[in-house]
Amino acid sequence: MTRAVCPGSFDPATHGHLDVIERTSRIVDHVVVAVGTNVSKNALFTPDERVEMLSEECGRWGNVEVTLFGGLLVDFCTANDIDVISKGLRATDFGYELQMAQMNRQLTGVDTLFLPTTPQWAYVSSSLIREVATLGGDVTPFLPEKIAARTIARVASRHAGARNDM
Ligand code: PNS
Repeated sequence: MTRAVCPGSFDPATHGHLDVIERTSRIVDHVVVAVGTNVSKNALFTPDERVEMLSEECGRWGNVEVTLFGGLLVDFCTANDIDVISKGLRATDFGYELQMAQMNRQLTGVDTLFLPTTPQWAYVSSSLIREVATLGGDVTPFLPEKIAARTIARVASRHAGARNDM
């Protein structure tokens, strides 16, 4: 039985992420979507919220589970019997993703499978989504419906909080 991990920050998870998770689920027997617990200052959602949202979206595939992970990804792979890391690859990511894949393979021998991002989502990233949403742009085309609604609500509550602080 082949087990893959799809790791990421998923803040928030986009159609591009779900596309990679679904494609991975068709290649391997079991997929673990691992949400990194390193919370950045600009984070929109807590890691637990991201797991909750992703779990709802991934429930439609019978062989996908969602969990948190901290520390080194290779240690997570060893502890969870993961055979392969699966990642979507955009042209802009190539250099850094290659470097991480080679480092991870050097550390424990775990290999990385790169799936070319579907062209429709090639320019979408969570950081751009956060920026567009924060500045009032429409992010609904890039996110699953419920995640889009929560993203818009979270940005609005941040704006309201900022106004109350003035
Ligand atoms: O969605 P992101 O932010 O591109 O995800 C990056 C992530 C979480 C997959 C990456 O930063 C990672 O693997 N972090 C775990 C720490 C680690 O193993 N670092 C060494 C990488 S060679």
